[in-house]
Amino acid sequence: MARVFYHGAYKAPREFNWVIGVILLTLTLLLSFTGYLLPWDQLALWAVTVGTNMMGYSPVIGSQVRFVLLGGVEIGPETLLRWYVLHVLLFPFVTVIFLAIHFWRVRKDGGISGPL
Ligand code: HEM
Repeated sequence: MARVFYHGAYKAPREFNWVIGVILLTLTLLLSFTGYLLPWDQLALWAVTVGTNMMGYSPVIGSQVRFVLLGGVEIGPETLLRWYVLHVLLFPFVTVIFLAIHFWRVRKDGGISGPL
């Protein structure tokens, strides 16, 4: 990403691939956060408690979002199962699709750009 930014490759005709890149960055963060719970130790437990509490303060749908993510009103075995499925199935699957689009766009845009 730093290389792409330095080379100004976010400009035309590569804006679309930059947006795909932002989605990939978000997916990477989501993979990191869901993976954080899986060691199921004190650090993981409290990190996810804090994270889901923060999401719980979102306006209007906060408490519903928190309930869905925890699989209950507090962190427990259901949370572990839920985050495990997100970490090993859903997010990798979505990431592979966006990676395929990303690499397809690199080819379509005539390969990578060089220094300006
Ligand atoms: C999972 C994360 C990512 C992977 C595995 C990935 C991989 C790649 C690869 C292999 C290339 C071609 C080689 C290169 O340009 O060095 C590329 C190009 C590119 N990437 Fe990513 N990328 C990721 C995230 C991002 C992010 C976060 C951004 C920007 C927000 C981004 C924007 C771009 C753009 C604009 C190009 C075209 C660069 C050019 O033509 O010079 N990518 N990406």
